[in-house]
Amino acid sequence: QDVRLWGGRFADGPAEALAKLSASVHFDWRLAPYDIAGSRAHARALATAGLLTGDELHRMLAGLDDLEQAVADGSFTGTIADEDVHTALERGLLERLGPDLGGKLRAGRSRNDQVATLFRMYLRDHARIIGGLIADLQDALVGLAETHPDVAMPGRTHLQHAQPVLFAHHVLAHVQALSRDAERLRQWDERTAVSPYGSGALAGSSLGLDPRAVAADLGFERGSVANSIDGTASRDFVAEFAFITAMTGVDLSRIAEEVIIWNTKEFSFVTLHDAFSTGSSIMPQKKNPDIAELARGKSGRLIGNLTGLMATLKALPLAYNRDLQEDKEPVFDSCDQLEVLLPAFTGMMATLTVHRDRMAELAPAGFSLATDIAEWLVKQGVPFRVAHEVAGECVKVCEAAGIELDGLTDEQFAAISPHLTPEVRTVLNVPGALAARDGRGGTAPAAVAVQLAEVKADLAVQ
Ligand code: ARG
Repeated sequence: QDVRLWGGRFADGPAEALAKLSASVHFDWRLAPYDIAGSRAHARALATAGLLTGDELHRMLAGLDDLEQAVADGSFTGTIADEDVHTALERGLLERLGPDLGGKLRAGRSRNDQVATLFRMYLRDHARIIGGLIADLQDALVGLAETHPDVAMPGRTHLQHAQPVLFAHHVLAHVQALSRDAERLRQWDERTAVSPYGSGALAGSSLGLDPRAVAADLGFERGSVANSIDGTASRDFVAEFAFITAMTGVDLSRIAEEVIIWNTKEFSFVTLHDAFSTGSSIMPQKKNPDIAELARGKSGRLIGNLTGLMATLKALPLAYNRDLQEDKEPVFDSCDQLEVLLPAFTGMMATLTVHRDRMAELAPAGFSLATDIAEWLVKQGVPFRVAHEVAGECVKVCEAAGIELDGLTDEQFAAISPHLTPEVRTVLNVPGALAARDGRGGTAPAAVAVQLAEVKADLAVQ
């Protein structure tokens, strides 16, 4: 029996080479449960339009239930001869219901509107899964910030010591970025809650079907598409999803790179838990940050999925083109990668040991309190341009003498500038420098506590 959904006008079957090229069932099979849900909704729409009797609808739904069960327990699967998931499931339905009833379901729909709808449903589910996994990571990071509320570390720009910051402040910066990724997923989900079902191949249907009823049935809160051509041809929802997942990967890679650096002998800021690090096959002493490295590596792959997809979409004329079959593998992969990466990454962050003394010891190193001298001078009425020069002079003297700023004597301060009275020492310590930055978003313990409370409240309502 010919399983093809389009054999009628062809005298010959497809060449094997074409069948091999054309097949997508090996990767679109994961849409099967969504396809069956779509079929149920479509059957109801056909019945409402008077194209299936009550009894036919009843038997159709029973057949779909049975098929769903067979898909779930693996007793029915698509094969390469089926071309794609939609074809395979029609074969399964025909096997169950016979051609007279089974052959009625395809009326008024096309694989073009089907696939556009199912793909949205699949990605919406995974947006929620990934959003939940991001929230788990945020919880782990918030936990790190909470257990180390008072640890100072060197804040860096250009990877050079810049100004001391609280470790909790630094960690929460990553939490903020992840919050935006999670928010993007939620906003994307809302935008994508529109169903293309009923668009047919591109022009809609002459059968009096109600796309809005199907949309409601399938959980599309915002109804059905306003334009059937757009509904079947547009994939910006896929590209946007690919961007959000790539951005999430990039945000993970930024944390990952720091973990890798912090975990080196030279930094010794953190130690990874044995359960979340790996060894070397030759060097017995090695304990490697592989999770962080895989996060860094996979972020490249996620970016590739995005750019490959954009290249596929570029300059495609309306409406459906078979190029669009290339839209699924990249984002399926983006889902798969993030869904294995995030739990491991969360475990790594939740279990790492923070070496607070090491961080605190280095916090004032590298003249990171020079800005505090300049700002202290400003408070004494010195113009900032002058203050900056004077503080820079202090650094120059220290560098030549091989000492830190608080090693300067009263005489050395006075020699650099008469404005530098011994009171300047009050700001030459890390706790003072931190506490002074108490404006909104600043690194003072009080300001960071406010931020932490806000972040926790946000996470609680998500
Ligand atoms: N498998 C196709 C896809 O993923 C859907 C089939 C549409 N095929 C067609 N010849 N109109 O895009």
